[in-house]
Amino acid sequence: MNIEARLRGLRRRLTDTNEPAILVTANANLRYLTGFDGVIDDGINGACLVTAEHARFYTDHRYAEAARNAAAGTPWEVRIQKENLYIEICDELIAEGIDSLMLESSVPYGRFTFISEQFRGAVRVVDHYVEELRQIKERAEIERIAHATAIADEAFDHICGVMAPQMTEAEVALELEFFMRRRGSDGIAFDPIVASGPNGARPHAIPGQRELERGDLVVLDFGARVGGYRSDMTRTVAIGEISDDLKRLYDAVLAANEAGIAAVRAGMPCVEVDRAAREVLDQRGLGDRFTHGLGHGVGLDVHEMPTVGPRSTQSLREGAVVTVEPGVYVEGLAGVRIEDLVVVEQAGCRLLTSAPKELVSI
Ligand code: CO
Repeated sequence: MNIEARLRGLRRRLTDTNEPAILVTANANLRYLTGFDGVIDDGINGACLVTAEHARFYTDHRYAEAARNAAAGTPWEVRIQKENLYIEICDELIAEGIDSLMLESSVPYGRFTFISEQFRGAVRVVDHYVEELRQIKERAEIERIAHATAIADEAFDHICGVMAPQMTEAEVALELEFFMRRRGSDGIAFDPIVASGPNGARPHAIPGQRELERGDLVVLDFGARVGGYRSDMTRTVAIGEISDDLKRLYDAVLAANEAGIAAVRAGMPCVEVDRAAREVLDQRGLGDRFTHGLGHGVGLDVHEMPTVGPRSTQSLREGAVVTVEPGVYVEGLAGVRIEDLVVVEQAGCRLLTSAPKELVSI
């Protein structure tokens, strides 16, 4: 993890945008900038202040040792909170003659107001300032994501041997979680989605007490986490024999997934990658059943930049890690989604997900 390069990147942005200081409080951004991997209570007790001269990591006594360890050998100075973190930060800024401060858009309104009153200079809210830097992954970051992906691939293989009619969605979700954690996942990337039969028509269904039935399609969307980095994959499996209509849905989504992956390369506008997959579904009369974007970046957060969708304005950049996840959803009947994780390369992409994509029947 190259902490110095990350800090350099952030300072370059400050110079480019002519801003003297940013206060970073979003958890994943704190972790990215400092390399600190302890628990921080949602920004309340952790903050990073970066100016041209200073890089200060503020936290409280509970995290003092871990923060000092993380900062050792890096440009970060650790400051331990005495009374009120934000009063202390503002006092230092005022003493240093800094008259303008950027906060991240995720800052709670109460804290924004408090800092604005304390600081008295100009306070501005910015979006995606650090997230933009996180888009391009270092080799070590890609290794962690690939490791998390490999654990999830194994979990898919395992769950195919465990799933059976009468098992509930919730039991399948729990088994996925147990398996990944036993294999070294530090928690899970997000709560698994296990959506069977008609529940599959809701892209973000919560696993419940519905029992798997013969003739169902089951959407499994889950991921592992290694060293803070997440993976994200979706497979849709059949319980026993399924109808020809469901098979047609599956084939269409698989073709869209492959068309999307084939369109990925550095410099490609995200909107065109989305279109490549969407066209396949359009041609089969399923375009209006694909109700979300094709994909998103994955890293310290499960949804991060870039967004790959019909309204994206960005292009894919080399070293970004994105999902390709077309889906079709038929209310009252079923859903199909097939999601892979890829690393964007100069001339194409490297597929991280290796679980099979031909329809698995259980
Ligand atoms: Co996803």
